[in-house]
Order: sequence, then C-alpha cells, then structure tokens
Amino acid sequence: MAEVKKSKVVRKADQYDDPEYNYQDYWQGRDYEHAAEEMAIRRLLRGRKFKQAVDVGGGYGRLSKFLTKFSDKVTLAEPSQQQLDIAKIYLRDTPQVSQKLLQASNLKMKDGSADLVLVVRVLHHLPDPSPEFAEIARVLQPGGTFLLEFANDAHFLNRIRYGLRGKSVPKTPVDIRSEQNKDDIPFVNHHPKTVIKKLQEAGFEVEATLSGSNMRSPTLKRVLGKKPLLAVEQVMQPLLAPIYFGPSVWLRLKKK
Ligand SMILES: C[S@@+](CC[C@H](N)C(=O)[O-])C[C@H]1O[C@@H](n2cnc3c(N)ncnc32)[C@H](O)[C@@H]1O
Repeated sequence: MAEVKKSKVVRKADQYDDPEYNYQDYWQGRDYEHAAEEMAIRRLLRGRKFKQAVDVGGGYGRLSKFLTKFSDKVTLAEPSQQQLDIAKIYLRDTPQVSQKLLQASNLKMKDGSADLVLVVRVLHHLPDPSPEFAEIARVLQPGGTFLLEFANDAHFLNRIRYGLRGKSVPKTPVDIRSEQNKDDIPFVNHHPKTVIKKLQEAGFEVEATLSGSNMRSPTLKRVLGKKPLLAVEQVMQPLLAPIYFGPSVWLRLKKK
C-alpha cells in the first residue's frame, strides 16, 4: 500500500459511467452491509426531521430512498449520468427524491439551502476532501447536520498489522489501488483524525461517532447469517466508536 503524498486534481469518478460496470450489482449479496448502514443512519438521525436533504455522491440513490424517512425532500447529487439513469428506475416510486448531475465540489445550490447532507462511500475517491467539505458547509444552514461515512484506515486489524511491523497507521490517505490500476481514479482509505481535522477547518463540529460494518467478513456472513451479525453490529456501533474499531467510520457533524 502506497501513501498518497500529494492531493491530485479531483476527477469525476468515471468508472461509474463505464457500461461494463454496474454499481447496483455490487450490492448483490451485501445485505448485511446495506442494513448496517441504514442502522447507523437511523441511529444518528433518530427523532430528527429535516426539510431539504442532499445525498452527495449518492450513486443510484441506494440511501436517498432511506433518507425520505427523515427529510421532506431529498436531492440526489451525483456526477455519473449512468448512476442517475439507474436512479430513474430505482427511485421511480419515490417522488420526494430529485436527481441532479453534480460534483461534490460544486453543488450549485444556494448558501444555507439544505439542512441535512449525507456522504457515504465517496471519500475514498477524494484524497484531499477539503474543497468538498467547504462546499458542503456552504450549502448547509447554520446548525445543519452532515452525516459522513468513510473507509477507516486506522481500523483495529490494520493497527495490529502496522504495529507488527513496528509502524503506526499513516495520518495521510493510503492509496489502495493495485499497481495495475494506478491510472484509475483515486481510491484511498483515510485516517479518522485527519478527516476530523479537515472537517473542523471547514466549520464542523463532531456530535456523534459510530464504528461501522464491524462484522464485515465473508466467513462470518456465511457461518452466522445476516440476523445474528446485525444483532452484534447493533451493540458494537456505539461501543467501539471511541477506538475507531471497524472498517468504516460514521460521523454526525453540526455546521457551526
Ligand atoms: C461507491 S459509490 C457510493 C454511492 C452511494 N453513496 C452509496 O453509498 O450507495 C461512490 C459514488 O461517489 C461518486 N463520486 C465520485 N467522485 C465524486 C465527486 N467528486 N463528487 C461527487 N460524487 C462523487 C461516484 O460517482 C459514485 O456514485
């Protein structure tokens, strides 16, 4: 794994427009991961109601649909036309979700026009997400809520792996592309402390943290099945959050 030394120019995630690749298919057989993410969102938004949510980099709207439980209107802001084409079908019975072709760094919305922003599984394409955090801060009203999920490079197993080599997990983003795929769009895992520092610089404060997808293991999924895994996940999400145990980190942030 190579560390990303410099932030690159952010490119559109063009593999999501590749006719050979269908991101919706990726979710087949990943019921546990999907349910674990809905569990985290439900937990972080419990008892709250919003008027205008934005699902930034929302793909085909997998979680935009779920957001309608919490927000009157949802905008799916997504840079891939292919994802939006799939969304037209996936969201055909969900008129509360509108779809727009947009990059996270330029959301083309008025200042303070949203009260909730969701970003899930997008940060791995953004080695330096500072411009995107600044744009999200701009469109959120003061006191607005930002739910962010990202791939955690400092998860428990990785800390052990690094520790066995006498090293600590790098604070800079870690490139997880294989040598053959170095020309593809960026694919990085982030250190939670670095992400939180950038969020604070953009004007956010952390209100709540969860450790996500703690039981993500093909063997566990096969042996135990979804229901028991989710029961354990339910307990682990808040319990293990302070040590950033799982492969994904969830943050609920408030715009100051
Ligand atoms: C792994 S998918 C996640 C989709 C959705 N959030 C979900 O969890 O189902 C990553 C998404 O990020 C989008 N993306 C990549 N770079 C982006 C950028 N700079 N701004 C906004 N979205 C971006 C891709 O087009 C893709 O739909």
